[in-house]
Amino acid sequence: MNGLLEGKIAVITGASSGIGRAIAVGFAREGARVTIADITQLPIEGGPTTVELIARTGAQADYERTDVSRWEDVDQLISRTVARHGRLDVMINNAATYSGTPLLETSSEEWHRVLEVNLTGMFNGCKRAIAQMITQEPRHEVRGRVINLGSQQGIVTCPRDPPYGVSKAGAIYLTRQIAVDYARELIVCNCISPGKIVTGAPGLPTDPALIQNAQRRTPWPRLGRPEDIANAAVFLASDRATYITGANLVVDGGWLAG
Ligand SMILES: NC(=O)c1ccc[n+]([C@@H]2O[C@H](COP(=O)([O-])OP(=O)(O)OC[C@H]3O[C@@H](n4cnc5c(N)ncnc54)[C@H](O)[C@@H]3O)[C@@H](O)[C@H]2O)c1
Repeated sequence: MNGLLEGKIAVITGASSGIGRAIAVGFAREGARVTIADITQLPIEGGPTTVELIARTGAQADYERTDVSRWEDVDQLISRTVARHGRLDVMINNAATYSGTPLLETSSEEWHRVLEVNLTGMFNGCKRAIAQMITQEPRHEVRGRVINLGSQQGIVTCPRDPPYGVSKAGAIYLTRQIAVDYARELIVCNCISPGKIVTGAPGLPTDPALIQNAQRRTPWPRLGRPEDIANAAVFLASDRATYITGANLVVDGGWLAG
């Protein structure tokens, strides 16, 4: 049986770990040929690399070492992917970092570091991918799709992390702007804003106070799993979602509804 993404060529940034890793595995399962773009192949949560994980399912994936904050890296990532596979159908801008500090404890260096990875990295990914996509013949009405990872904390405040929250608000805005500006070029651009997703990463993401706060605010009786986001991304990358563009799909177990 054909998968939902059969034959699609996809690049996923930050796909060595967490949500990006689940998206890569989910895409491969649905028949996409995936390139994992990350600064490292080592998953933060441990275990096999994403390329190995996908190989175990009988599919193939590629890894390109990429720092998304560097234009030259992203330029080379897309050029090499297209040289290998002939086109680019889906670009997922997922790589991100955080500071974990309130305003007065955030240095100017920290501010720039988070914004450069999360927002400039997304700008680089969108710009380079769309420059490629607009040169391609449409398939099923679409030349290419971009999915940006926002956060519910780009809509409501992000406790103790203004640079992260600002970068995620920027992701939601950039998505809308691109969707409007490039619709006539048949580019589909959407954002996914996860609620609290338990990825298995140690450190700040497992801070008991943050987990407790997330549990209190999430109506659904569990926190999110990376697969919850992967399923949303598969749908938005598929030909079933063509008339959806400029949307911010919140996947948060009802957090923002409360
Ligand atoms: N986990 C959550 O609860 C949650 C909630 C809302 C939004 N999100 C968003 O989902 C996305 C994935 O989050 P996650 O929790 O899986 O993160 P994570 O920290 O587990 O993984 C991030 C990945 O990005 C990579 N990365 C970091 N800097 C990079 C760079 N400069 N260039 C390329 N790759 C880089 C890391 O190596 C890592 O593999 C992020 O955009 C995040 O903001 C996550």
